[in-house]
Amino acid sequence: MEHALYGESGFYLRERPSSHFRTSVGASPVFAEAVLRELAAIDEALGGPDPLDLVDIGAGGGELAAGVLAAAPPALRSRLRVTAVDLAPRPAALPGEIVWARAAPDGIHGLVIANEWLDNVPVDIAEQTADGPRLVMVNVTDGEERLGGRPSEADLAWLDRWWPMRAVGERAEIGRPRDRAWASVIVRLARGRAVAIDYSHALDDRPPYGTLAGYRDGSMVAPVPDGSCDITAHVALDACAAAGESAGAVTTALTTQREALLALGVTGGRPAIEQAASDPRGYLQALARASEEAELIAPGGLGGFGWLSQSRP
Ligand SMILES: C[S@@+](CC[C@H](N)C(=O)[O-])C[C@H]1O[C@@H](n2cnc3c(N)ncnc32)[C@H](O)[C@@H]1O
Repeated sequence: MEHALYGESGFYLRERPSSHFRTSVGASPVFAEAVLRELAAIDEALGGPDPLDLVDIGAGGGELAAGVLAAAPPALRSRLRVTAVDLAPRPAALPGEIVWARAAPDGIHGLVIANEWLDNVPVDIAEQTADGPRLVMVNVTDGEERLGGRPSEADLAWLDRWWPMRAVGERAEIGRPRDRAWASVIVRLARGRAVAIDYSHALDDRPPYGTLAGYRDGSMVAPVPDGSCDITAHVALDACAAAGESAGAVTTALTTQREALLALGVTGGRPAIEQAASDPRGYLQALARASEEAELIAPGGLGGFGWLSQSRP
């Protein structure tokens, strides 16, 4: 998975995510506006630091970073330091003010946002056998699978704590690399908040056969790690939360995108029908916005994503 996505000519070094699937960022500019509101609240809580950081991890084409920057009012924008972090090369059209980096900076004062990053952090997969968990090995050219050796002691301990398998044939995605990745973000946060947004599941509701999937050109494909497709697996955000706490997070909130965006004023509320007669153009614009908001908070869709929000005041 590591090599297929990030190795020499790996999928994400060649391709931009928006060419292959839709995330909240691409769904609507409403998402960037909501992130800006979150940033403004953090700015106020921190007493208006200069610079105020916005760090977008797994930035893809940098669309979210650019969207927040463009929507920021001048008083905030003048103090804003935006860093987009990705392993891919800097997009040509990115505004010059945005720093492009391969790793998150140290000493962040402000907001870190990671939308659909952790699901692309590579994981190993274990399958339960009569003799306990075994690693799943995969042929990188045709995707054929066979069972390998036992996972490491550290991975077995993680499975025991976070994803115990019950029946022979069940599979678990070993989330330790995601925990480590998230902890590495929290240690870089000096003051402020870090938010990870992703397809997720919790300890009491793990999918018994895992969630490994491949995507290419907008369609789901077999997750063959040959570099031709995105490979992703949902995230055990509760395990990441615990890792974040061990790394120094002081507060933790784990909720859904629907709840988080509702709290940021994204309600999907439709305009009053009377506006259609008095201001038809404004009415149509408000209607279009309402349907974009509704997509972002739809319980069975993007609204069902997990939001892990951790802070260091
Ligand atoms: C699914 S895309 C999300 C893009 C964007 N955040 C969005 O929501 O549209 C995941 C991105 O994470 C990046 N990524 C994965 N691991 C990374 C790492 N360790 N450091 C920086 N970026 C990483 C990939 O290159 C890819 O661009």
